[in-house]
Amino acid sequence: MTPRAEARAASAPPLDGHPMMLACRRKPAPYTPVWLMRQAGRYMPEYRRVRAQHDFLEMCRRPEIAAEVTVTAVERLGVDAAIIFADILLPLIPMGVGLQYEKDGGPTIQRPVRSVADLDRIAPIDAAGELAFVGEAIRMTRRALGDRAPLIGFAGAPFTLASYLIEGGGSRQYQATKTMMYTEPATWDRLMGMLALATVDYLNMQIAAGAEMVQLFDSWVGTLGPDDYRHFVLPHTAAVISALRPGVPVIHFGTGTGNLLELMRDAGGDVIGLDWRVDLGEAWARLGYDVGVQGNLDPVALFADIPEIRRRVRAILDRAAGRPGHIFNLGHGILPETPVDHVRALVDAVHEMSRK
Ligand code: CP3
Repeated sequence: MTPRAEARAASAPPLDGHPMMLACRRKPAPYTPVWLMRQAGRYMPEYRRVRAQHDFLEMCRRPEIAAEVTVTAVERLGVDAAIIFADILLPLIPMGVGLQYEKDGGPTIQRPVRSVADLDRIAPIDAAGELAFVGEAIRMTRRALGDRAPLIGFAGAPFTLASYLIEGGGSRQYQATKTMMYTEPATWDRLMGMLALATVDYLNMQIAAGAEMVQLFDSWVGTLGPDDYRHFVLPHTAAVISALRPGVPVIHFGTGTGNLLELMRDAGGDVIGLDWRVDLGEAWARLGYDVGVQGNLDPVALFADIPEIRRRVRAILDRAAGRPGHIFNLGHGILPETPVDHVRALVDAVHEMSRK
């Protein structure tokens, strides 16, 4: 970027009038903003080209690469928000538990935390300092985006992070995680408290670096019943959200959380992320309209033909009924095999059908 372009970007208005910012604040917007979880990912040829040259963690660690793939996704899709290229598990790196991303598999943790002795071995981490490369990627992305779109910072919520740390990777039953919760509640609380502190520090660092809003991913919390959520998770998630810099919108996301939505709202956030298992209209009525909603197309619907995608977009927009505070998204991350032209068609359909 030229020095002049940089100066212009630095003095750009803080995007307050952007449809995405308006929706986060439940103000009327000229159209429904749309962005997609994992919008910079393997379904996109531009991403695969960069990824062929670098491993995933290296892409996260090199701010110029992270910024490039973040901005490319916005340009290619015409979406209304950028999300910084990173991963919810990055804070586990400085914890020294042996985080690895397997080729074409999910992440694994070599030394899972199953006991108080395992927890004692984890050094308290300086998330903001040790993940400063994410801050640098945010500064570079912010400059490159100018006033085109706000930039979303993100982190994993304590429960979802704890589940990876305890299970040693992804899980179906969360048996080890729940066993710790039920049999060693003091260890559970200590682990969650530590993760909450690191997450606050990490997210406030991202906000200071220029993220206009943040999303907290509690992707797997839907495995819990309401009493367990209330008792073992809500206080820690609430502690994170209430410690973030005031005035910065927070999107609070989970999947399979139809039974937890009111509790997630009570834990905090300006916008609650919904997946496709719930009817958006019913979920929003339950939550009340003092909170926004994000979602909730099934990512698999993008494999259908474009007329079918458009029909589903229409149905979701009808459920939202033009109320301020709806952000269109998928109910979960976009899948690697998704056709790019279907993704573009989705974005165009949302803009076109929601325009006031
Ligand atoms: O575009 C974006 O949304 C920003 C980047 C982003 C990534 N991961 C990049 C990524 C975001 C927001 C995440 C969040 C994330 N990471 C979540 C929460 C969202 C969700 O899916 O519920 C979770 C659970 C993770 C952990 C994780 N990282 C898994 C389970 C995997 C493997 C599955 C997969 O999709 O490959 C990853 C790897 C990962 N994170 C990739 C990307 C682009 C793929 C890496 C590659 O190129 O091989």
